Amino acid sequence: MSAVRPGTGKASGKTLTGDEDFDGLDRVEPTLPGSTYYDPAWYEHELDRIFYREWLYLCHGSTMAKPRSFRTFKIGSQRILLVRGEDGQLRGFHNTCRHRGSILCKEAQGRLTGKAIRCPYHQWAYSMEGDLLATSSLAEAADFDKADFPLYPVHVQEWRGLVFVCLGDDAPDLRDSFERGSDRIEHWPVEDLVVGYTWRKVMKCNWKTFWDNFNECLHCPNIHPELCDLVPIYGRRISGQRDDPHWQDTAESGDPRFVGGLKEGAQSWTSDGVALREPFPNLTPEEIARGQSYFISAPSVFIACHVDYMRSVRLLPLGPEETEIEVEWLFLPETMERPDFDLSKVTDFAILVMQQDAEASELNQEGMRSRRFTEGVLMPEEHWLKRFQDWVRERTDQ
Ligand code: FES
Ligand SMILES: [Fe+2]
Repeated sequence: MSAVRPGTGKASGKTLTGDEDFDGLDRVEPTLPGSTYYDPAWYEHELDRIFYREWLYLCHGSTMAKPRSFRTFKIGSQRILLVRGEDGQLRGFHNTCRHRGSILCKEAQGRLTGKAIRCPYHQWAYSMEGDLLATSSLAEAADFDKADFPLYPVHVQEWRGLVFVCLGDDAPDLRDSFERGSDRIEHWPVEDLVVGYTWRKVMKCNWKTFWDNFNECLHCPNIHPELCDLVPIYGRRISGQRDDPHWQDTAESGDPRFVGGLKEGAQSWTSDGVALREPFPNLTPEEIARGQSYFISAPSVFIACHVDYMRSVRLLPLGPEETEIEVEWLFLPETMERPDFDLSKVTDFAILVMQQDAEASELNQEGMRSRRFTEGVLMPEEHWLKRFQDWVRERTDQ
């Protein structure tokens, strides 16, 4: 991979001296190669090294709270079945029958009517623990042993109500997948929340294209005018105070354009800025003032944490240039029972922002197809993006 060479021309903005104490990049850094965003062989390599090894967030556990609930998911080319047993335990399997490989569950979600998972093809029956209970043959060969044909299991962990799976043989420590430096969610009651609304979209972009976009705010003023009104610092194309090389000059201003937080009078990410309820009880004053915190577990999810609700944004790759986004809005049940609860106040705003991001990601994807685009260049504000791309590099041996 060739490095981007520094040019001799003057930068259009101010030039960094190298003495600034800030979070931004102070040297030219190349992006990942353009071809890694669409090459089918590279996509397979990333599936193998990343999506088939790391912990992946699938859904909030409350979406399958009752025994015998099931949900199915597609991760790359792999289909996964999650089932909650009579014992309350969630288990995960490849959605593949051990007889001749048919899909076991066609539906996206539902509840088993009996105690068995039955293959729709020749009707082999499995327990919710994955054991083969019965075949459909008139008789079985003497050397046929049902114990030899359980469903293929995958690792499942339900951590504070968040359901993660790992398709690798040996699962790493789940907590190691929680991005260091991402804001913590220990003060949010995530296990007590339920899903009030779900939104899905299949985007025509590589999974990294969406993450790249998530990791910078250079695009914010032109792509997200409404969001920049609510979060004024985004209007300056940065997401944190220390992204500005001269942040010390305005550190005492208290102005959200410089120090972050929501605009004057706003409490949460809603269409009018008014929170749905008083802040969750355990939040610190700083967490309340921040307006939004992000919990991140690459490569599958970020959770936007607000004072009154949370929103998980989960990404799964479906193809080199196809990525599914599924978003869950999470509320305390009592919030949704309030007479003045207005779901559209929160969903409309975030859907607008995510549609804008999806459209920007699709534009980005299209342009990277140019045969001249071997790689791009990162600007100082894109330091989170550099971290994300280094994370990808480490796992894919670049
Ligand atoms: S493939 Fe499932 S029973 Fe035959
Ligand atoms: Fe954005």
